[in-house]
Amino acid sequence: MNSLKHFVLTLGACFAVPTYFMVAAPYAAERNRQTVAYVMEEPGSGKPFDDGAFKGLSYPSAFAGDRKRGEQIYSREGCAQCHTQVIRPDYAGIDQFKKTWGKDQEGKSIVPTRQTVMWDYLHENFGMIGQRRIGPDLANAGYRFTGKVNDFYLYLYAPRVRKAWSNSPAFQHLFITRPVEGQGSANALKLPANLAPAEGLEIVPSSEAIALADYVLGLKRDQALPVSITGAKPKSESK
Ligand code: HEC
Repeated sequence: MNSLKHFVLTLGACFAVPTYFMVAAPYAAERNRQTVAYVMEEPGSGKPFDDGAFKGLSYPSAFAGDRKRGEQIYSREGCAQCHTQVIRPDYAGIDQFKKTWGKDQEGKSIVPTRQTVMWDYLHENFGMIGQRRIGPDLANAGYRFTGKVNDFYLYLYAPRVRKAWSNSPAFQHLFITRPVEGQGSANALKLPANLAPAEGLEIVPSSEAIALADYVLGLKRDQALPVSITGAKPKSESK
């Protein structure tokens, strides 16, 4: 009889614990949210909001240049099979505190990354939120490759040159091998001897790889959010 009691209690806990974390806790965190109108002036007064409070707030700009094409290549190559672009709210996971998922925080103390919201995916025909995380989250990958686009190309062409343990596939079909002209291309890959092309040849990213880099380097989902999303009260109401 005793073992039946244990069995029932254990079974109950198996359901209760996930229900708490996946249903009850998110519900408690979200149920009091109220929509706040997206107003650009203090209600009634006609005065614009105090700029200081909204510093850095801007409507996400439409994708410039080749980023739109890069997004299609990201989708075609199946990057979203291994990479997400979602930083979950803190009650649902520890994403915000993962050192390498926000801005590059290597060697610094952790600065939490803000969670992603629907606003972050404006202008995208299909949000590449991904399905599973075999590689790191890319919601803020742009920060980690700023000024290091050649690192990104190296990742695409030969992931194990960058990280010996990498289990990412190589995307060599996005590169072109061609004879060196003049001083050679600034984007030509710097490969170790066993992968380097024959003398007089260089390996450069194709226009597809360049568009993909435009897209990935543009992933910076941490713009300031309007009150209607954060739920912060407009000034005149909070008095
Ligand atoms: C089979 C799974 C898989 C696929 C598909 C994949 N990746 Fe990765 N990716 C990984 C893994 C694992 C890592 C971590 C190891 C590394 O950095 O090499 C990684 C790392 C990265 C990084 C470096 C992230 C960082 O912050 O250091 C970028 C950027 C990236 N991938 C972009 C892409 C793009 C763009 C595509 C599509 C062309 C893609 N990945 C397809 C598994 C994958």
